[in-house]
Amino acid sequence: MTTVESARVLATPEDVARQIVLPEGHRDEARLFDAYRWLRDNNPLGQVAVGGYDPIWLVSKHADIMEIERQPQVFTSGGADQPGSHNPILQNQAGDAFTKQLTGGSLRILDTLTYLDPPEHTAIKDIAADWFRPNLKKWEEQIRALARDAIGKYLRAGTNDIDFVQQFALFYPLHVIMTLFGVPETDEPRMIALTQEFFGTADPDAQRADVEPLTPEAAAQQWAAAIQDFYAYFDALVADRRATPRDDLATLIASAKTESGEYYANTFAYGWFIAIATAGHDTTSSTMAGTIEQLAVHPDQLAAVRGDLTLVPDLINEGLRWSSPVKHFMRRATQDYTLRGQEIHAGDRFMLLYQSANRDADVFDDPDTFRLQRKPNKHIAFGYGPHMCIGQHLAKLELRILFEELLPRIKSIELTGDRKVVQTNFVGGLRSLPVRLELT
Ligand code: HEM
Repeated sequence: MTTVESARVLATPEDVARQIVLPEGHRDEARLFDAYRWLRDNNPLGQVAVGGYDPIWLVSKHADIMEIERQPQVFTSGGADQPGSHNPILQNQAGDAFTKQLTGGSLRILDTLTYLDPPEHTAIKDIAADWFRPNLKKWEEQIRALARDAIGKYLRAGTNDIDFVQQFALFYPLHVIMTLFGVPETDEPRMIALTQEFFGTADPDAQRADVEPLTPEAAAQQWAAAIQDFYAYFDALVADRRATPRDDLATLIASAKTESGEYYANTFAYGWFIAIATAGHDTTSSTMAGTIEQLAVHPDQLAAVRGDLTLVPDLINEGLRWSSPVKHFMRRATQDYTLRGQEIHAGDRFMLLYQSANRDADVFDDPDTFRLQRKPNKHIAFGYGPHMCIGQHLAKLELRILFEELLPRIKSIELTGDRKVVQTNFVGGLRSLPVRLELT
């Protein structure tokens, strides 16, 4: 086993580092989770330099991620638009170079929350913060109707031999967010395709036919093409809502104004739309599919929750911990700092490994077992600190309603074929989950 060379901490084996850093490493979840475990046990905070990528610190422990995330002034998300800048989403060097080429030198390809620090981050987040607050009760009936529609449309009484991801899970969360957002149902397939390109850049199953697969330049080009499609679409949406306001999230964002009473630059509206259109459904559908898979392998837990629907919120929390569909965000140190006894230097970059933190035995008993009634369950699948997911209450509401509607009808779930996982180190989970679902 060779060892990754870098200026300071050197102990992480190259195969462990590659498994975690490279998108292709994420296709084999068993090896990926072994690699996370190796880090937690042997080098919980270590620097690696994988070929083609800048050196980064891999942050595998729950406590360290929280320590980093609670100090945005020390560990910045921003600066992507400045020289010597930092990308809060890990790309390889060729990808970053290409992004800079596209933007004229900036890595901030979008004016969206993930690229910002307080106070700018706070001002932009506040535009929709109220809308996303926990009192989403008002949407409950509407979302329940959408859940029933989805079950009625894609599933039937008796035997359903389906790919749970491709033939069910992908549609409902997208439909919910697009409905609340104000995008017509006919445009939803376009949103799915674009999201898959946006997040699954390096995933061969998500390649555009008109771009050569898998070279770093092609991957960057594909990403840029997806963004251009989004811009054109949302250009029209902003203009429409400014001209004809409606009672939807699109209107709220399109009509937001700065303190001086001007509309925000269009790029901020696009940033919001893209964040919501992308973050708002793949994450939720991955969690739904990951949870169904665990219920299939734990029929006792399926019976328990089906028999007592008040356990659904616990099921969802464990499903979130287990699936952790957001695999990383990056931070950059703005100053020297000591973390877990290691000397951090200003400019160092950190890959926050949420999936690893959510299997950390310092926080979770028996972390590699799915436990419906895990209490406490302090997972950080939604992150932590000022960047913590704004959509968390909506995601939990959607999942709760879906499971409340679906579980009473499930007689059994059987896994019937090979699962497939999206090839990405950023946002993703199951791409395919063949199941036999017996419904009443
Ligand atoms: C199971 C579902 C979801 C998971 C696991 C998830 C996870 C995450 C995570 C880990 C972050 C980064 C937090 C951090 O940096 O500390 C995040 C940020 C974000 N999420 Fe979610 N998310 C989910 C659903 C949603 C939904 C439904 C929406 C919107 C409709 C949404 C919108 C956002 C936005 C806009 C951000 C950026 C927040 C910021 O940087 O301040 N997410 N999410």
